[in-house]
Amino acid sequence: MDSRHATANPIERVTVLGAGVMGHGIAQVAAMAGHPVTLHDPDAGAADRGLARIRANLDKGLSLGKVSEEGRTAALDRIALASSLATACAEADLVVEAAPERMELKRSLFREVEAAAHPSALLATNTSSLSIDAIAEVLADPGRFLGLHFFNPVHLMALVEVVQGNRTGDATLDAGVAFARGLGKEPIVVRDAPGFASSRLGVALGLEAMRMVEEGVADPAAIDKAMELGYRHPMGPLRLTDLVGLDVRLAIAEYLHEKLGGERYRPPAILRRMVEEGKLGRKTGEGFYRWGKGGD
Ligand SMILES: NC(=O)c1ccc[n+]([C@@H]2O[C@H](COP(=O)([O-])OP(=O)(O)OC[C@H]3O[C@@H](n4cnc5c(N)ncnc54)[C@H](O)[C@@H]3O)[C@@H](O)[C@H]2O)c1
Repeated sequence: MDSRHATANPIERVTVLGAGVMGHGIAQVAAMAGHPVTLHDPDAGAADRGLARIRANLDKGLSLGKVSEEGRTAALDRIALASSLATACAEADLVVEAAPERMELKRSLFREVEAAAHPSALLATNTSSLSIDAIAEVLADPGRFLGLHFFNPVHLMALVEVVQGNRTGDATLDAGVAFARGLGKEPIVVRDAPGFASSRLGVALGLEAMRMVEEGVADPAAIDKAMELGYRHPMGPLRLTDLVGLDVRLAIAEYLHEKLGGERYRPPAILRRMVEEGKLGRKTGEGFYRWGKGGD
């Protein structure tokens, strides 16, 4: 463990890199929890859209009575946009990266971040599948690096996987757990392993459900109902696959199959065929279910 990070807690100022689907949500929940937040995206339009989405989420929260007028205004006041990465990172206690899922992009980003941020700042990636250790290789001080894997939509999903790389310092990990709790989330600590805890288990269930459809064990609605009513899952694995996108699920299955070996994650033929046919789930109107214009 690197003792320099033993006193890095508490995290106050948070910088979020990337203002897309995940970045805007992470910025929102951090601001709602009282953190001053700086949001950076090299695409100025994306930064503006991210801020607009935060405003819309908070407005909806207000109309549902889940956010107060003062809470909404205070959260918005805590968020600043920064057009330069170096400026965005200079004052941060924690930098959370939510840029596209490409290893080389994340590695080059963290080289810049490490040069710009204070030596005591903690650095986190929201990667959903890439190896924390592989990203950390570019850092002079990997002790301050960890994974903070949020779920979509960030303001509604309780889980955060706090991912511990081989060189993540203990104090860094503790600070990550405390930070997630401070956002009102439920953190779990996971070692840096393909699919972490969430995708590895969730995808195994989804692929087995597909094999059951292939074998004619039951139809998709019956298989989903078995999990919903028999195991109290809020949504069956095939309906969830339709929402996530069959193409996205296929990519994750291929990745897990490559990394973990064996037969468990080998994509079933039915999944490949449906993706080839453009049956990607809700976004294309058909997957294991047919979806109307209203999304159901
Ligand atoms: N979408 C999900 O459901 C989900 C869930 C959990 C984790 N993730 C992970 O979160 C990360 C972001 O995913 P997303 O869905 O928000 O992507 P997204 O495409 O919606 O947003 C990515 C944003 O990053 C910006 N960007 C590009 N280069 C950048 C750079 N050098 N510095 C800062 N920002 C940059 C882009 O302009 C874009 O606005 C990925 O690693 C992804 O795997 C996604």
